[in-house]
Amino acid sequence: MKHYRINPGGSFVGNIKVDGDKSISHRAIMFGALAEGTTRVRDILEGEDVKATISAFRKMGILIEHVEGDYLVHGTGLHGLRQPQSALDMGNSGTAFRLLAGILCGQQWSSTMLGDASLNKRPMGRIINPLRQMGAEIESNNDRPPLIVHPSSGLSGIRYELPVASAQVKSAILLAGLYAKGETSVKESAPTRDHTERMLRGFGYQVNRDGSWISLHGGGSLSAGQIEVPADLSSATFFILGALISKDSDLLLSRVGVNPSRSGVLPILKRMGANVERANETDVGGEPAADLRVCSSRLVGTRIDANDVALAVDEIPAIAVAAACADGVTEIRGAEELRVKESDRISSTVIGLRNLGINVEEHSDGMTITGGRFQGGEVQSEGDHRIAMAFSMAANVASGPVKVADIDCVATSFPNFYQLARKAGLDVEAVSAKSTDEP
Ligand code: S3P
Repeated sequence: MKHYRINPGGSFVGNIKVDGDKSISHRAIMFGALAEGTTRVRDILEGEDVKATISAFRKMGILIEHVEGDYLVHGTGLHGLRQPQSALDMGNSGTAFRLLAGILCGQQWSSTMLGDASLNKRPMGRIINPLRQMGAEIESNNDRPPLIVHPSSGLSGIRYELPVASAQVKSAILLAGLYAKGETSVKESAPTRDHTERMLRGFGYQVNRDGSWISLHGGGSLSAGQIEVPADLSSATFFILGALISKDSDLLLSRVGVNPSRSGVLPILKRMGANVERANETDVGGEPAADLRVCSSRLVGTRIDANDVALAVDEIPAIAVAAACADGVTEIRGAEELRVKESDRISSTVIGLRNLGINVEEHSDGMTITGGRFQGGEVQSEGDHRIAMAFSMAANVASGPVKVADIDCVATSFPNFYQLARKAGLDVEAVSAKSTDEP
């Protein structure tokens, strides 16, 4: 097991491009596999989560080549997947697991999906229930992985109101809907990221939106195309955070995805007084992208509610670190979904903040943070990439060195984090646990 040892005091300067968007990368492989023809994907995220998706589709007979930096996905159409010879291991990835479950329900053969220790604890009833309503035959371990999906006698479209604001659940239902008779409609309780809808349309599949209802008709086909993956805003957020809270920082992040259905972190930080400017707004493969310039800023506390959370669900640990550096109090509410992410992120964040000397009160659905000054110390990642990266940035403004323990998880979403953090100005070393060289 490795850890980061960080000495505080750096400034974030220069120009970096963070790794490709995880959500879009998963979908590019999946939809490319289901399309007719070959899809070329540029700037895909080569993180562990996406590798799990690639390996699952290879096991289902899809040829995925890595050519001159691009990935070529040779699609076989909606009915061209083959039965895998062994279980599909989706590793740490909830997105890969839930979206693939929707696809597997439409197949004429049985398959098993499993995950790592963290994924095996995450709730799957939220996809199993609607998929069963569509006619899917699914066995589970008390609504947790592993899942065995059997061929059904045919799926039918449903009208389904999502009980949780989840793009993963919405997407699983829509993907099963590709195989269903009639229309499948999903109503969002709050807007969530719409990468599935955008990319299906990009592959020539009609997806309709009527208010908060999203619907499609089964039985169509997807046509292959070209996809360029923008830089991942969730990964960029750690660098935005680092630059905001550190002195003398001026950092440019290139071609970051700023899809409004998932860029809620930007208005939240703006409310807190963040100096983040957008330039060169463009369209990258049907997704809005922009360069983001971030400078050191004096932050103030804010209130974050359920609607904010749905649009910034992966960014709350980073926002919490920003809140700890802000003047005044920040209250985060309506964030109970964070309890069922890669770790219980409310608990992991609260413990990490307290370990570094911040006054924080935990709620069932969030936390109240009083701005202060980080002290040196140790934070456990709890095997959660976003906790590891958020506290690596906190470390830069601590009063002493910080150890962030168990950092292998960072590779799930951001394999270049370490190199880019060092390049941008963070004094970080990756230390193997064998070493006695403690901070
Ligand atoms: C994702 C949706 C979000 C997010 C995850 C990626 C996606 O999960 O947390 O990292 O790609 O659809 P939920 O929609 O379940 O909140």
